[in-house]
Amino acid sequence: MDNYDNYNSRDYNDDRYERDWQDGSGGGYDYDGYDDYDRYGNYEGHDEAPRSDERYDDDYDNDGEREYDPEYEEYVREQIARAKLRREKADQLARDRLHAKMVMAAAGVIIISLIIMVIVNASGDKEPQGTYTGESSSQQVQAAPAEDTESSEAEDNESSSQSENSDIYKGQATGHQLVTKDGITYVDGIMIVNKTFSLPSDYDPGLNSEVSEAFNSMAAQAWSDGITLWICSGYRSYDEQVTLFEQYASQRGLDEADAVSARPGHSEHQTGLCIDVNTTDFSFEGTAEANWLEQHCAEYGFIIRFPKGKEKITGYDYEPWHIRYVGIEAAQQMKASGKCLEEYLNVTSDYADSPGNEDFLKKYAQYADITPADSSAADYNTGSTDNAADYNYNDNTDAYYSDDYGYGDGYGY
Ligand code: DAL
Ligand code: ZN
Repeated sequence: MDNYDNYNSRDYNDDRYERDWQDGSGGGYDYDGYDDYDRYGNYEGHDEAPRSDERYDDDYDNDGEREYDPEYEEYVREQIARAKLRREKADQLARDRLHAKMVMAAAGVIIISLIIMVIVNASGDKEPQGTYTGESSSQQVQAAPAEDTESSEAEDNESSSQSENSDIYKGQATGHQLVTKDGITYVDGIMIVNKTFSLPSDYDPGLNSEVSEAFNSMAAQAWSDGITLWICSGYRSYDEQVTLFEQYASQRGLDEADAVSARPGHSEHQTGLCIDVNTTDFSFEGTAEANWLEQHCAEYGFIIRFPKGKEKITGYDYEPWHIRYVGIEAAQQMKASGKCLEEYLNVTSDYADSPGNEDFLKKYAQYADITPADSSAADYNTGSTDNAADYNYNDNTDAYYSDDYGYGDGYGY
């Protein structure tokens, strides 16, 4: 579909992942298959996942094996450097936005204080009535109905209280142990974050160290199998998800955004337990890297979190790049059974089941009527390689390691 609006972005058509309709040279098309613009419309070229077969050149010494190609290494380095620059740019933007928000918040506080002073003065010497008592945050064990009551009792109740399951959660974790602690839900000890279950906005753990170690081991094994894996997007904060989701919703409408991106508080990226690998667009699907990942990630405790064919259950479109750490045993069980996480834990993923979703509906009502066809500036590649983690090439181990696993990184899916 053409770039009807002449923005630096391709326009929507039924193929959601079409890209690259303008090369910036005055309306022409470059048709190189890549979206060359960042989310802010600036030209930045494109990255492409290095393919393992490019690692080798011709068989110069006729020993029957192709020689290692030093240009491949250079090529990978360049991509990583470019990704780092983009991350710095996006981080700067995020800082500027935060700063602007803080200034606005301070101005708001001053204005409200002034208004209160005026009201107090106007009401003479009267003392302000009433004292606000903050409610302490509640922690609940949601006992799954019927057969689950026994296991719930075994749970640590030190800081948790227990209650019977109510209508708030529909069909949740029947036959499993569901615990809510500090606003975070665990089923059979596995943290669950999806459309039904959310995280508190201040939950801010960064990328989990066990997860980054597991990823390192996996990347090292992949490398020795001729496969290059790296983190495109790891941990994302609540605020980053606010920006990301609103961008998708304003461009594509609420329904479309909900199919590919989590509402703030509902993204697994905020758990620090998931990683977008290499490239968050469908150029990744079917590559040797994607196939290797699907085949081997369970050996390292990861699952492909949003599998093909499970869209109605997970609530999201297929994402071959998004892996979630659940531990080796659970990952292998899920792989063997073909179950996605929702099936494995017997939970729903549905905003209708999510307490507080009414607030989102009010907030996002403005995007409800946008249809993708109206969206003239959709840029489906946003985030594909923005903010890749900062990898160091390690010649000793022949693997890519990160010294910056995503703290503050990350615009992806
Ligand atoms: N793309 C996944 C669903 C997320 O936004 O967390
Ligand atoms: Zn993701």
